[in-house]
Amino acid sequence: MQYQSKLPNVSISIFSVMSALANKHKAINLSQGFPNFKSDQKLIDLVSKAMNSGFNQYAPMPGSLELRDAIANKYDLLYNTSYHPETEITVTAGATQAIYTIISAFIRPNDEVIIFRPAYDCYEPAIELNGGKVISVQLEAPFYKVDWNEVREKINNNTKMVIINTPQNPSGSVFSEGDMLRLQELTKKTDIIVLSDEVYEHIIFDGEKHQSVCLFSDLKSRSFITASFGKTFHNTGWKTGYCCSPKELMAEFRKVHQFNVFSVHHPTQKALADYLNEPNHYLDLSSFYQEKRDLFLSLIQDSRFKFTASKGTYFQVLDYSNITQEYDVDFAKRLTIEKGLAAIPLSVFNDFGLDNKVLRFCFAKTDDTLKQAAEILNSI
Ligand SMILES: Cc1ncc(COP(=O)(O)O)c(C=O)c1O
Repeated sequence: MQYQSKLPNVSISIFSVMSALANKHKAINLSQGFPNFKSDQKLIDLVSKAMNSGFNQYAPMPGSLELRDAIANKYDLLYNTSYHPETEITVTAGATQAIYTIISAFIRPNDEVIIFRPAYDCYEPAIELNGGKVISVQLEAPFYKVDWNEVREKINNNTKMVIINTPQNPSGSVFSEGDMLRLQELTKKTDIIVLSDEVYEHIIFDGEKHQSVCLFSDLKSRSFITASFGKTFHNTGWKTGYCCSPKELMAEFRKVHQFNVFSVHHPTQKALADYLNEPNHYLDLSSFYQEKRDLFLSLIQDSRFKFTASKGTYFQVLDYSNITQEYDVDFAKRLTIEKGLAAIPLSVFNDFGLDNKVLRFCFAKTDDTLKQAAEILNSI
């Protein structure tokens, strides 16, 4: 049988590769971005309760209204802004589905989409599957700051979308208010849609405020926000998230959503609606993860790795250029096989595989796991 791959350059994701290698060599796995501790028993009990109470058939296509109400309340409370639960919020099967659906709903062949690298890996294939062209803006280690003049130069009549991600996976950097104002200025009076991937909105450190697109009125009017309950409530396997946007954009989103997912796991939605009513369940997250970041960094401060503390997400990047000049993918594999510690090499998220000798470590792990990982890092 003859067929032509629509994604000839895509292979198994680095997350699957490194996790499989970690399993094979019984290595500590700080590669993939998931916690190795349980989510709150209260939330697990709420899902069982919802199942036992009959929430087992299709949820409404845009999501359970109770959950959409709870999401709307969160935006009101945190950002003093409103998204209408009926027309401006849709519950999705994780942020990945929301991102794919947004891109499918708006990107046509030869449309250009600007992304910032290192970039989370699901943006590029979704753009390419829809015939779009990825236009990369490479951010440089160690601060990963955006050169907005470069962005301005890359915007033209074919630019249909800009994808941002703050706090950013994998670099752990965040956009400042100034960054958001520049983005707003550059997209004002254009038809460019902004896809703002905010899955780590509740994991931001050192007292910084998350700069959501919804805080900037002109940006809000052209933006989708994507969010992930898996990231927020320590259960990435539940694959539940949502997106918000102005209603005209959301109407287009739902045209696609209803034919690829239709609706999302109903009992989980019921449980999340109840759980979200207690804001501390997400407000406490930054301090919870800041303690983990600080523990991890204090344990490796005398190691030969160089670092700037992560400003958000549950990832810390470490520069190993004092140790070896090996290609980062080779070093990550050797670290897993010979030393028993798995991480993600940053070059896979970069334009042209740019290798800055940096690995990404996930610190959403128990303190014991972080201590064991630190021992290995200190021994190198
Ligand atoms: C930046 C970013 N966006 C989206 C996702 C996907 O989230 P979900 O698991 O809810 O699909 C992830 C998961 O790692 C991520 O890091």
